[in-house]
Amino acid sequence: MPETATLQVRGKTYTLPVVVGSEGEVAIDISKLRAESGVITLDDGYANTGSCQSAITFIDGERGILRYRGIPIEQIAEHSTFPETAWLLIYGELPTADQLECWSNLLTRHEMLHEGLYKHFDGFPSGGHPMAILSAMINATSTYNPDIIRMESPETFQSAAARLLSKTRTIAAAAYKTSIGQPLIYPKPHLDYCSNFLHMMFSIPFKEYEPDPDIVSALSLILVLHADHEQNCSTSTVRMVASSGANLFASCAAGVCALWGPLHGGANTAVIEMLQYIVDSGISVKDYVEKVKDKTSNIKLMGFGHRVYKNYDPRAKIIKQAADRVLAKLQIHDPLLDVARRLEEVALADPYFKEKKLYPNVDFYSGIIMRAIGIPLDMFTVMFAIGRMPGWIANWKEVWEGQSRIYRPRQIYTGPVERSYIPIDQRRPAVAVPGSTTVTGQVVCR
Ligand code: CMC
Repeated sequence: MPETATLQVRGKTYTLPVVVGSEGEVAIDISKLRAESGVITLDDGYANTGSCQSAITFIDGERGILRYRGIPIEQIAEHSTFPETAWLLIYGELPTADQLECWSNLLTRHEMLHEGLYKHFDGFPSGGHPMAILSAMINATSTYNPDIIRMESPETFQSAAARLLSKTRTIAAAAYKTSIGQPLIYPKPHLDYCSNFLHMMFSIPFKEYEPDPDIVSALSLILVLHADHEQNCSTSTVRMVASSGANLFASCAAGVCALWGPLHGGANTAVIEMLQYIVDSGISVKDYVEKVKDKTSNIKLMGFGHRVYKNYDPRAKIIKQAADRVLAKLQIHDPLLDVARRLEEVALADPYFKEKKLYPNVDFYSGIIMRAIGIPLDMFTVMFAIGRMPGWIANWKEVWEGQSRIYRPRQIYTGPVERSYIPIDQRRPAVAVPGSTTVTGQVVCR
């Protein structure tokens, strides 16, 4: 007998199916509730809503567990490369040696941009934010490959996925070069994914960048740790857009936009800005933490807290150790790392953070490594986007293959009830229009 749940509302009883995931997570399936009862569920920020069933990534936020396709993140971080992790996420299994070679060759084959696309970069002003350029250029790429928009077979999907993964890195480096007014650097086919990215970022026409193996492996680790994180804001956005039938490029370009915000991928930039502020202003770490706790300050401890983790984010643990290792190897002393360590120590001992179960998340230490690699601050969230691409692609594929219904939440309307249209000469200002001032019944536009 399948398990069910019972709901009583307005004097009637409804029986709802119960769904159990492979790790024992339990959900009440309310998909037919409205049709049967006229009632919907309300869940601000979707904090308690399972938006889909997915076989890609598992998180246990209470125990600080993250697994890609069942494999613990610690093992993946130790053994895997970014292209291999991407294959695992997209296809569900680790690739064989032949599959990995074929996949790597495919990524190399698609690393160049169409020559016409390079010209688009001329249209962006120097100083234009690379996240805006990345999103626009991912969409623009699809205009050069109309066949992949139609996506008629698994082969077309693979070609589209390889193009997107490979070209994202080329676009990201070109966005950076554009933002600093340097000539664009073409990829080199003999370099691996990460070395090639560093080459396109840091080579200049008269001086070749020689990637240091420690820097390459630090970059690879950052990308692998960001590769997927189940139904976060940007991945849900990708699935939302995909559910309308939109193509892979359009869906992932939307993911880039969702990632940009400081509460999501933009937090890695905000963390460094916060650490720099603490160093520059001379405020003590204890006083800064007090400021964060004061709700009227509207300041958050960036890089702390997570919707799902109520324990140490396992990625933050790995990144923290890596930051120590990388900086020691490169003989870099970064005062921001000292401040970050002290902030963590003070926050974790403070009842405010203990009670709310706020721990460092992936963004708390990742910026320190990116600084050591030489990645500029504006590019931090772009690095997150390159890393997250395999997860977006895997989630897009799941929607595409599962032919899920279009994502279309309901709402509880709280606006005015029905009223009549008022002719313009009879209207009185009721609300001050943003950017204008109400002076005795008159709206003055500035
Ligand atoms: N500093 C201070 N207080 C915090 C913080 C923080 N970083 N995070 C949460 N809180 C407080 C929050 O004010 C609330 O307090 P109260 O119960 O008194 O109202 C309580 O903790 C619960 O927080 P919430 O806002 O309900 O949590 P959420 O699940 O809606 O938001 C979050 C999660 C990650 C957006 C939030 O913790 C945050 O803004 N953190 C800082 C930004 C950040 O580091 N973001 C990166 C997230 S990890 C990578 C990613 O997903 O991109």
